[in-house]
Amino acid sequence: MIALGCDHGGYDLMQEVIAYLDSKGIAYKNLGCNDGKTSVDYPDYGRKVAKAILSGECDKGIVICGTGIGISIAANRYKGIRAALCSDCFSAEATRLHNDANILAMGGRVLGPGLAVKIVDTFLNTEFSGDERHARRISKIEEYDRED
Ligand code: RB5
Repeated sequence: MIALGCDHGGYDLMQEVIAYLDSKGIAYKNLGCNDGKTSVDYPDYGRKVAKAILSGECDKGIVICGTGIGISIAANRYKGIRAALCSDCFSAEATRLHNDANILAMGGRVLGPGLAVKIVDTFLNTEFSGDERHARRISKIEEYDRED
């Protein structure tokens, strides 16, 4: 199950992502926002997606704001969340292989729908490599969480 969250800046691109998921029969939980006209706050939607993953309800998430930056920063505040802002397929593949990223973040004002959908496809269809060195580095991210 894929958790989806966006602000008004990401709403239009999220509709493209939803159309893609529907076409592939991929299950998702849409946590809003629900229109592109009302100004909303991206931390609220980054938080909803992070919590849906941490609760076990969803195993991955896709978040979109205008740049993808704010909502990825917000989602990464939660321990166990690894949100990767991607604007290309190489990064989307690498962040699954190396970082075991559990959230894909994109910028609705950055990417066109064709590239965004390919990035989503790459992210969802790439497994974590499981290599010891990558697992060790991810463990260190968790270990170093919230250091002063
Ligand atoms: C909203 O105008 C915009 O600031 C937001 O979508 C995002 O780009 C923040 O990082």
